[in-house]
Amino acid sequence: MSLPNPKLEDIEIQLLLEGVYRYWGYDFRNYALSSLKRRIHHFIKKEGLNSVSNLQEQVLHDREFLERFLLSITVNVTSMFRDPSFYLALRNEVIPLLRTYPFIRIWHAGCSTGEEVYSMAILLEEEKLYQRCRIYATDFNEKVLQQAKSGIFSLKLMQDYTQLYLKAGGNKSFSEYYTAGYDNAIIRSSLRENIVFAQHNLATDSSFNEFHIIICRNVLIYFNQTLQKRVHELFYNSLCPFGILGLGRQESIRFTTKDQQYQELVKGEKLYRRLN
Ligand SMILES: C[S@@+](CC[C@H](N)C(=O)[O-])C[C@H]1O[C@@H](n2cnc3c(N)ncnc32)[C@H](O)[C@@H]1O
Repeated sequence: MSLPNPKLEDIEIQLLLEGVYRYWGYDFRNYALSSLKRRIHHFIKKEGLNSVSNLQEQVLHDREFLERFLLSITVNVTSMFRDPSFYLALRNEVIPLLRTYPFIRIWHAGCSTGEEVYSMAILLEEEKLYQRCRIYATDFNEKVLQQAKSGIFSLKLMQDYTQLYLKAGGNKSFSEYYTAGYDNAIIRSSLRENIVFAQHNLATDSSFNEFHIIICRNVLIYFNQTLQKRVHELFYNSLCPFGILGLGRQESIRFTTKDQQYQELVKGEKLYRRLN
């Protein structure tokens, strides 16, 4: 696609995002612009279109096109026991705190296809806490949520996940947690029992419960400061006193108005505890 002048293109992108919000309710207006632009360009090329306005026309008239657009402009990459030292820190520092609660509510926001959620379920099961937990796993994208709900992953990936599981302090045989069928690994149904998958949009929806832990990793990096601030307000208001917030490697509570309301629980692992 040969770009028109950049200023004109910025206007087209604003109109596109405004239209998608006004018509479909998906609000990308406060996503970080440079990565959003990159992904829009990539999508335009993939679909064989020739301008952002062209894309706007299609996305407003065709729901299937919208679904492809949603999948293409957000990054859904995830894995089980991603950044294993984070899970090791959860196991060593957070689990002992959780033992004091009779019932534990956990929110995985922006859970994508569910790998992180099942990693948490495995961890809790090994620490004999799973039966006391209810895990709410949300994403704004219905397609990735459906995949998450199914609990079916590529068998090929399980070898890599086994390595990460071991680094995260796991000491069982990882294959205990799934059954293998053809090219797929299906997560044991007992691990799925206490997980509720639901659609929730961090840009537009409000709090829906009070949680002891909120994990939201590798989502805020795609938001601008205004949206990050909104989401931090939402998390703060959704955490119980002394609740735990877990963020991604490149994310933090610095530069938000909430930095004074938390104490860093594990240095370097982006695990914070609400102060009261
Ligand atoms: C890179 S993935 C992160 C998955 C997982 N948390 C991890 O760290 O492996 C980002 C996820 O955020 C979701 N997402 C993006 N914008 C969102 C929003 N406004 N509300 C809820 N989820 C959103 C995407 O659909 C995607 O599944």
